[in-house]
Amino acid sequence: MAPQRRAGSRTAESGGAGAGARAQESRRLSSVMKGNGQKDSRRKWLKVAFLLSSAMLGYLLSGSYLLSEEGVTEVLAHYGEIVKDKFIEVPCSEDYDSHKRFEGCTPRKCGRGITDAIISRVEAERIRRIAEKGLSLGGSDGGASILDLHSGALSLGKHFVNMYRYFGDKVHDTFTEEDFHLYSEVRQRIQQKIALAFGISSSSMYLTKPTFFSRINNSEAKTAHDEYWHPHIDKVTYGSFDYTSLLYLSDYTEDFGGGRFVFMDEGANRTVEPRAGRVSFFTSGSENLHRVEKVHWGTRYAITISFTCNPDHGIGDPVLT
Ligand SMILES: *[C@@H]1O[C@H](CO)[C@@H](O)[C@H](O)[C@H]1NC(C)=O
Ligand SMILES: *[C@@H]1O[C@H](CO)[C@@H](O)[C@H](O)[C@H]1NC(C)=O
Repeated sequence: MAPQRRAGSRTAESGGAGAGARAQESRRLSSVMKGNGQKDSRRKWLKVAFLLSSAMLGYLLSGSYLLSEEGVTEVLAHYGEIVKDKFIEVPCSEDYDSHKRFEGCTPRKCGRGITDAIISRVEAERIRRIAEKGLSLGGSDGGASILDLHSGALSLGKHFVNMYRYFGDKVHDTFTEEDFHLYSEVRQRIQQKIALAFGISSSSMYLTKPTFFSRINNSEAKTAHDEYWHPHIDKVTYGSFDYTSLLYLSDYTEDFGGGRFVFMDEGANRTVEPRAGRVSFFTSGSENLHRVEKVHWGTRYAITISFTCNPDHGIGDPVLT
């Protein structure tokens, strides 16, 4: 936490100093201008050119400084663009060899896909409301809260509770059948998209756990569960994972700062900037080592939806009974 914070304030300070120097320079220039009278219009142009170029330089300097600070070297999907269908193939790691293989599902082709075309922003908003409702029952003391509709796991203070047991009937007043229907429908669409992208049959893959909503803000971590920013490999963390997907429910730079998803490749950090309705999916092995930047301000909502090829690890859709 500490190095990151220091880094953040350093950026702010250098930006502030730059702006201050520019303001001083322009004040000096304008007093010079007044002293010489206004007849020299070339000077006016010089002043405009100076201000423009210094503003541009400041912008470029602070921009590249911020980028290099987070170590990001490439943006795979910008928050402001609408990505129809993007797929980047990467060679598969050997992680899949140490698990039982399921022909027609276990990745032979590995990579990453991004699409803004399968979940609308209106749907993303409706799903975010499900997350908001559920998480309003609990919430972590630290910055990262989760809600798992399948197991009922909900962050509460420094722990988790099973919301179905802990809140009983209150859960039924919180969610509607429609909420759960939408959740299942969206999950199916994402599953079909992944199957298509990797050339497998959608029926050969199974939803697995954990599949959960996350809500992240900039509160200081209180337990290890709040530390979402460490680089990790999903298949190492959860052996059953074969395909991981993320559905973003809020917008980078609009709703929160920091919090970009980063693929950590040898020699490059490639980011997917969250955008409500954006689906990012990838094979879960070490070909896709990744991390999430710390959220600096605001609140970031997403769902992690995980798939396995092993039917023994499959889970069903959540039901509201
Ligand atoms: C972050 O969320 C927690 C609940 O999980 C809340 O208690 C805290 O006040 C929030 N922090 C900020 C800075 O909004
Ligand atoms: C990628 O980011 C990490 C930390 O975020 C940094 O240590 C590493 O040097 C970066 N890699 C490149 C190639 O910039």
